[in-house]
Amino acid sequence: MTIAELYESRKDDPRWNTSYPLHPKDWAAYRVDGPLPFDKDRCLSFYIHIPFCRQLCSFCEYTRMLCPEEALQETYLRVVANDIERFKTQYQGFTLLGCDIGGGTPTSLTEKNFSLLMEIYGDAIAGLELSDDFEPSVEATFDTLSEMKLTELVETGIKRLSLGVQSSSHSIAASHHRLGGDEKQMAEWLTIARQMGIEKVNLDFMYSLKGQNEASIAQDLALIDRLHPEQVTLYELRTNMLPSRTSFTKEALFAQYSQYFEGLMSMGYKGRFGQNTFSVNAKDQGVSSYLRERMLNGASYKGFGLSAQSMSSVGVSYNLGKLSSGPRQVLNTDGYPEAYTYLLPAKELAAKYMAISAYHGSFFPNKLLEMGIAPASLNDTLDFCYSQGLLVRSDDDRVHVTKEGFKYYGALFSLFF
Ligand SMILES: C[S@@+](CC[C@H](N)C(=O)[O-])C[C@H]1O[C@@H](n2cnc3c(N)ncnc32)[C@H](O)[C@@H]1O
Ligand code: SF4
Repeated sequence: MTIAELYESRKDDPRWNTSYPLHPKDWAAYRVDGPLPFDKDRCLSFYIHIPFCRQLCSFCEYTRMLCPEEALQETYLRVVANDIERFKTQYQGFTLLGCDIGGGTPTSLTEKNFSLLMEIYGDAIAGLELSDDFEPSVEATFDTLSEMKLTELVETGIKRLSLGVQSSSHSIAASHHRLGGDEKQMAEWLTIARQMGIEKVNLDFMYSLKGQNEASIAQDLALIDRLHPEQVTLYELRTNMLPSRTSFTKEALFAQYSQYFEGLMSMGYKGRFGQNTFSVNAKDQGVSSYLRERMLNGASYKGFGLSAQSMSSVGVSYNLGKLSSGPRQVLNTDGYPEAYTYLLPAKELAAKYMAISAYHGSFFPNKLLEMGIAPASLNDTLDFCYSQGLLVRSDDDRVHVTKEGFKYYGALFSLFF
């Protein structure tokens, strides 16, 4: 198949997006026993997964469960703390680029356990060299915030908070089992968070949700304008791991994204067409340092906790719990070691990098060469994309998706693997 034929054949296939591999069995040949080695990685980030939520939204692809009682939450946190200590004992002398605490909803923990989580975060970064632009972040929902949790965050040194809104429409939220956000409550929490010293608030919105249309997106944009967060992230609904598929065509998704993009630009947010993060500050990429290093630079990350993903310079792994069914079974354990470890050849590592880069709509061809991709094949694909106006190269050697290329970005980025 030529590159042009491959592109055509994948354009309308919803599986090509920021997920990779398309199915776990695609990597069966690379599976090995034991942990993922990090001995060649001198710089990496940490990710701590808290899989608990107050409600389970039906669109959510992440490993999450209803928040268990306080004692079980604490058990989980102590097990994760041990895993972090074990990793730090094994690997020393690396620089920590970022540390995100995500989920699930970390703020769904009780105040006592949230305090313990902050202690665990403090111990996790203690004694490590932090990169100059180290910027940790925590995911949250408005309904799980408390003044005490915000105080703890700031006192621990975490000043970026990422809150999910998804859609301002109560009926869209309700049809996805999502607790609908109340604008007054959101505005009050943003004021309190800023007064307490949170420096950056990111709000997550999703598009391609059932029921979303021009009017509901206009309402989302009006809400963003009134709340004026420092950062906004747009997520296209991914359904690779869900039983249902999106009913929107690629053209409809493009139109929804474009409406958000134009609206954000008119409010003064900075960002390039095709990327999913926007910021009021042109120098700020709109993400934590963990996400920035992961998306833009293909940097390594070590995930702790239930089902967390890790990537090193030699492969990818998923912790215990990735495909398990019930919370009780997976919470009664003395560790969350890698259950699936894959030592990957260059083309698969490059594929993972490209899929993650698609969030930002840009990548570094040099990174693909470093990973071992053959220059001739890389150049053929780049030439095709430049000639069709799908990609452009910028001065810093980064290659960006164009408006034309973004319409079928999944198919486009997949041409590189
Ligand atoms: C891990 S979730 C945690 C955030 C927090 N629990 C919340 O609900 O606001 C991070 C973000 O992923 C996005 N997300 C969730 N499910 C998704 C899916 N199936 N496809 C794309 N994005 C998704 C949502 O925008 C969500 O805010
Ligand atoms: S979107 Fe957030 S609150 Fe909803 S189930 Fe997923 S992690 Fe939990």
